Amino acid sequence: MDHFHYKDRVLYCEQVPLAQLAEQFGTPLFVYSQATLLHHLRCLQEAFAEVNPLICYSVKTNGNLTLCRLMASHGAGFDVTSGGELYRALAAGGVGEKIVYAGVGKTDPEIRYALANNVFLFNVESEEELHNLGDVARSMGRVARAALRVNPDLPPKTHAKTDTSVKGVKFGLDIETVLDVAHGVLGNPSVQVVGLHMHLGSPILSTQPYKDGAAKAVVLIQRLREQGHQISLLNMGGGFGIHYRKQEAQPAQAFAEVIVPAVKQTGCRLILEPGRFIVGNAGVLLSRVLYRKETGGKHYVIQDAAMNDLIRPTLYGSFHRIWPVAPAAGLPAPPDDYEAEIPDTFVQDVVGPVCESGDFLAQNRRLPILQRGELLATFSAGAYGMAMSSNYNSRPRAAEVLVDGTSVQLIRRRETYEDLVRPEVEL
Ligand code: LLP
Repeated sequence: MDHFHYKDRVLYCEQVPLAQLAEQFGTPLFVYSQATLLHHLRCLQEAFAEVNPLICYSVKTNGNLTLCRLMASHGAGFDVTSGGELYRALAAGGVGEKIVYAGVGKTDPEIRYALANNVFLFNVESEEELHNLGDVARSMGRVARAALRVNPDLPPKTHAKTDTSVKGVKFGLDIETVLDVAHGVLGNPSVQVVGLHMHLGSPILSTQPYKDGAAKAVVLIQRLREQGHQISLLNMGGGFGIHYRKQEAQPAQAFAEVIVPAVKQTGCRLILEPGRFIVGNAGVLLSRVLYRKETGGKHYVIQDAAMNDLIRPTLYGSFHRIWPVAPAAGLPAPPDDYEAEIPDTFVQDVVGPVCESGDFLAQNRRLPILQRGELLATFSAGAYGMAMSSNYNSRPRAAEVLVDGTSVQLIRRRETYEDLVRPEVEL
């Protein structure tokens, strides 16, 4: 469900026509719908209400301060993976007591920063990290609370680059080693193992991996308790999939149905770290057609957004729906099935200005004939869009705009050429 819809062949975000935003703020432009964002947070809160979860919005997905502030003011905590993300979470009104910190490579200054801000939980990914966490905490006269991140070794479930719970990835502790690692800090006054963490991968369109992962967690928590650890937290991470190609995502309720029973069995407090599920369908990337060309027997539409704005298509082969903001008479709204014959369309590559053959938003995509100056919307761009953008080719990063009903707020201005060189000039 999202609040991007066509009315009289004009695409709106809530009650604002996207063409108006392009006029006002230029392109490429990320446009977010506040109602969509909050709807998805609320879906999770309601689906899991029975076990009163701590829902920690995953800052890496889209760390814009205004969006994070909305999350905090609607009851979410934060999942962070670096000192920079912790800084964002705190700047957005997050409180340490509702922040969890994951990542395989936390540095000592980052750990000190997190401890100084009373971060609720460290999701620990290796034995050395666990001991180091204790050492750093001791040096500050603090006690660190840790959840051991386990790799539950489940069958592949998403793109290999973002599957984090198969054998052979850098994340978490091998499931066979968790008990030994935990044993090593039993009685350590500076670090307490109080939880178990897993993040299975992202995006995941099936509930089965959560069912299997949670079942393994129940057993492990039992064993950890037998060992003498006071386990009170089960963190099931994020990863819930969204609609990209079609209406393909599971509702929050479906994930709750497989996770909640396990949580109840353990008596633990549930932590979730959703990112994409909340913000993914709440954003589109708006761009403008520059040129069309035909070369090597292929049709290209060259528009002003590029791989530096949205790297997912070239990095993961991800599919994002793309459609004109003001389709010509007779054209439908974006089709439900892009593989099908769509009348008045032909196969085109949607590419950007960056100097790489891998710079595309879509390949071999059925699209109508497009005119120079026409606006395009790339859908489901709210998650890992701006967050993974770069200045490659010295392209200033896009602006971001938040729509709430009829009101529009610029939440990140477009970068300037001066912004690009500022850190170098300041040396
Ligand atoms: N928790 C942990 C420990 C994570 O590593 C992640 C994502 C999340 C939570 C949030 O996952 P989500 O709910 O957003 O699926 N750049 C890739 C996705 C990488 C995900 C990294 N970790 C993409 O664009 O598909």
